[in-house]
Amino acid sequence: MPDDATLDRAPVDRGRADRPLPKPGIMDIHAYVPGKAQAPGIAEPVKLSANENPLGASEKAYEAYATAERTLNLYPDPRTTIVRNAIAERFRLEPERLIFGCGSDEVFAILNQTFLEPGDNIVQGEFGFAAFAIGARACQAEVRSAREPNYRIDVDELLKCVDDRTRLVFLANPGNPTGTWIPFSEVRRLHDALPPSVILVLDGAYSEFVDDPGFDDGLDLARTAKNVVVTRTFSKLHGLAALRIGWGYGPLEIIQAMDRIRLPFNTSIAGQRAAVAALADVAFQKASLDLMAQWRPWLAQQLGGLGLDVIGPSAANFVTAGFPKTPGKTAAEADAFLAARGLLVRPIGNYGLPDHIRITIGTEAQNRAVVEALAGFMGSKSPG
Ligand SMILES: Cc1ncc(COP(=O)(O)O)c(C=O)c1O
Repeated sequence: MPDDATLDRAPVDRGRADRPLPKPGIMDIHAYVPGKAQAPGIAEPVKLSANENPLGASEKAYEAYATAERTLNLYPDPRTTIVRNAIAERFRLEPERLIFGCGSDEVFAILNQTFLEPGDNIVQGEFGFAAFAIGARACQAEVRSAREPNYRIDVDELLKCVDDRTRLVFLANPGNPTGTWIPFSEVRRLHDALPPSVILVLDGAYSEFVDDPGFDDGLDLARTAKNVVVTRTFSKLHGLAALRIGWGYGPLEIIQAMDRIRLPFNTSIAGQRAAVAALADVAFQKASLDLMAQWRPWLAQQLGGLGLDVIGPSAANFVTAGFPKTPGKTAAEADAFLAARGLLVRPIGNYGLPDHIRITIGTEAQNRAVVEALAGFMGSKSPG
């Protein structure tokens, strides 16, 4: 249901104001809250707060990045051609139907800017990724957040929010911060029920981490549908979050419209080169997925064993757990307890989950350290 009141504000005569005033609604936006990167007094904390790749990145990507060292004076290729061609080949996509961004975050922002007028709306799940709503609100659009019973996207709830002012439906599959996903039959049911004027955005930032053979990333649907855009990123599986490369694939008319307002040099030379190398390094990708296969179930089971309420099962590179409301055992206190020991995790009160903490799957040592510390925090011994 609608959760934005920003559009009902009394109009202010900004031309007569005694100082520059932002557009209506801007000051109601909650700026993106990044994961903590520092723990006071600890030189090298363990960062499990931003769903980064704990293995780093492909050695080939580091080498390719290094080749860009002497190119600092040059503008990058505005079409991101080398990555475009590599993605097109790997996923068998038409190169001209791809768009690249400063992370997939920028692809969402361009979608919002291209399709939203003031008074339009976007629809997302109630635990939808923060960047969807920030960009929509910046366009003075309304953000409608559909209930997610059991922390899972519910297609019927999404559809209840859709009306004739809906322009975009954002679906992260798996979702962040829940880690849950819906099967393709549900994605298709959603798509079938949407009017052709609504774009279904399938955010696959974590899609590579799903190990269920029944999962479908939506690229096949996007190949033929007139209103589906799939987004992906190099930030997670490929470990290139610092280089900010994300991409979108959709119908030519949509991509061409978006390209008209895309900033021309929005991906860097170093990022482009590293992305191509990362995409080719299948061994590194496999190592990252193997880490997930081994430690994701372990972490979920251990947290559950400590009496925490684990959302899931998570199919992404993190696990989210609920804490009791009992003083001394709350999520906020657990977060502070871990941070004091150099273990940085993500409180997610800004997603409406004040009793939960999201923990990125780390290396074996990191995962064990978090469980050990939380066992101490919960006042019980580690279950194994
Ligand atoms: C669900 C989801 N989508 C998209 C992104 C954006 O990633 P990037 O802008 O690094 O491509 C993230 C990052 O955390 C995410 O969690």
